[in-house]
Amino acid sequence: MTFALPTAFSIRDVVIRPPLVLAPMAGVTDSAFRGLIKRLGGVGLIVTEFISVEGLTRGNLKTHKMMKFTPDERPLSIQFFGVDPKRMADAAEVAQEAGADLVDVNCGCPAKKVVGRGAGSSLLRDLPHLAVILREMRRRISIPLTIKIRTGWDDNSIVAVDVGKLAEDCGVEAIAIHGRTRVQGYSGQANWDIIAQVKQAVSIPVIGCGDVRQPADAIRRFRETGVDGVMIGRGAMANPWIFRQTAEAMQGVRPYRPTLYAKRDVLLEYFDLMLGECPTETAAMGKVKQLCAQFTKGLPGGAIFRTQVFHSQARLELTDRITDYFTRMGEREAAGELLPEPEEALAEEVLPDDACHRAQACA
Ligand SMILES: Cc1cc2nc3c(=O)[nH]c(=O)nc-3n(C[C@H](O)[C@H](O)[C@H](O)COP(=O)(O)O)c2cc1C
Repeated sequence: MTFALPTAFSIRDVVIRPPLVLAPMAGVTDSAFRGLIKRLGGVGLIVTEFISVEGLTRGNLKTHKMMKFTPDERPLSIQFFGVDPKRMADAAEVAQEAGADLVDVNCGCPAKKVVGRGAGSSLLRDLPHLAVILREMRRRISIPLTIKIRTGWDDNSIVAVDVGKLAEDCGVEAIAIHGRTRVQGYSGQANWDIIAQVKQAVSIPVIGCGDVRQPADAIRRFRETGVDGVMIGRGAMANPWIFRQTAEAMQGVRPYRPTLYAKRDVLLEYFDLMLGECPTETAAMGKVKQLCAQFTKGLPGGAIFRTQVFHSQARLELTDRITDYFTRMGEREAAGELLPEPEEALAEEVLPDDACHRAQACA
């Protein structure tokens, strides 16, 4: 069966148009990155990186700062992780008061320090407790509540359909599924068959997630599974124009192709934003280095550039290296000397545990 391509979907009164969602990514989807993605276009909903309810409800200033957003990021979902129902509900109330459009519960994080405390994907192993959390949060807020899950803990405990039904029963109004188990981490391929099964089993909107690297991937997933929305994570780090390109491809328009000059300008803009956001210049440089690595996969001289960038010690040195490399490559591109980027250029894994460390460096 082939499904029609949607143009939008709604979570109660929150309209998500186009039906493309920026995935929550710890250490990546801070306010500056989200603003950048929004400005480049094509994204219907953005989600914050996960925020600890323990930090938030114990008055941790860094955690409070992670909740900051600007009106142009909306519609915006604030994602929380935790295990204590009361603290989860307290945090949800804070998010609602701060003007969030949606509150999302993380039931997918595989990081040891999160699952060790019973949060993240650990919640998939204790569905009665998950139900208590969801009911308490639902009771305390009036805006829509959503969850993001993995398919299960491991291949022997795939619970996505059960969790979908349970969530719907608890008043949850949309579910996002990353098609991997906790044990799988980021290995192998996301299983979209399970995502399709959840879509068949529930009546709330279902957002599929996993391994969407090109507009064609998103279109294929919509057509094959009938999901309401597609969520993109690592693909947006490598190519922040992926939402615009996908939205255009879904409308039958030839997708925009950014030049290397455009990539340079976005990196420099992001650096400026990070210098304003991060507590130290070193933290801002760390974020930009991470994006530089993603932007240069498959480009000639990319490996040398990444090493130079990695060893850059000062702000000006980093700015000069970015300007110099992308200007040189941009000239070669304009002269028709560069081949189109190979697809595998977008396929490098970013491990979430690393991201947790980075998130703390600039929380
Ligand atoms: C660096 C990084 C950080 C992540 N942080 C979160 C997070 O805070 N909350 C969450 O629900 N998922 C998190 N994820 C998972 C992504 O939201 C997404 O489900 C996963 O990367 C699969 O989608 P993709 O193949 O499009 O990247 C993270 C993933 C990465 C790569």
